[in-house]
Amino acid sequence: MIDKVMAARRSVRRFTPEAPPRALLERLLEAAVTAPSASNKQPWRFVVVTSPSRIAALAAEVREAVELIARHVEPRSESAFRAYGTYFTRFEAAPVVIVALYRSLTVLSDLVDAALPEPARARIAAMEERSGLIGVSMALQNLLLMAHELGLGASGMTGPLVAADRLRTLLEVPPSWEIAALVPVGYPAETPPAPPRKPAARVTEWLS
Ligand SMILES: Cc1cc2nc3c(=O)[nH]c(=O)nc-3n(C[C@H](O)[C@H](O)[C@H](O)COP(=O)(O)O)c2cc1C
Repeated sequence: MIDKVMAARRSVRRFTPEAPPRALLERLLEAAVTAPSASNKQPWRFVVVTSPSRIAALAAEVREAVELIARHVEPRSESAFRAYGTYFTRFEAAPVVIVALYRSLTVLSDLVDAALPEPARARIAAMEERSGLIGVSMALQNLLLMAHELGLGASGMTGPLVAADRLRTLLEVPPSWEIAALVPVGYPAETPPAPPRKPAARVTEWLS
């Protein structure tokens, strides 16, 4: 049942060196693209990185960005930040990294005329940007669930985006696209415990 898969999926950050076959990776991507999206625009693209040297180059950029930030964190928080920052490069342990891209919708912003006041224009832009990001996020959850179902380990990672500009260049991301997350994928070399969740009742407010 889907609820069992959802409950058992974990963010996996340690992998065996063996790369999953391309056919298995394609099944993840096929699951991803069944996701819903605003106006069915499917505002996603995926870049599958399999070269160890390119993965290492991505991680080196993230490490450099983390180092820069660390020099600007208050001294009393620096070691905590450095520990946190190690999670931003965890993708480098994987034989494959899937990079999920998204782009803002432009359906409504293309429709409105130049006389629309700026606040309304900004709200449309924010709504369309969010629609793109939420679309790819839904695709990513499908991908993560399918990875778990197929015996693969994976994790969504946005920490690497502290180096987003440099990653864009290395990944040759086209101008209108943004990186949503990096997803390391491989055969799991760990079985992480389930981090606790806040009960649904505690994060829900019922309004009548
Ligand atoms: C949007 C998002 C960003 C995340 N970024 C990172 C990251 O940069 N590095 C990392 O190691 N894990 C990252 N994670 C994984 C979370 O730490 C993980 O989902 C959370 O601790 C709950 O664990 P679980 O996925 O095993 O249930 C991210 C997860 C999400 C949804």
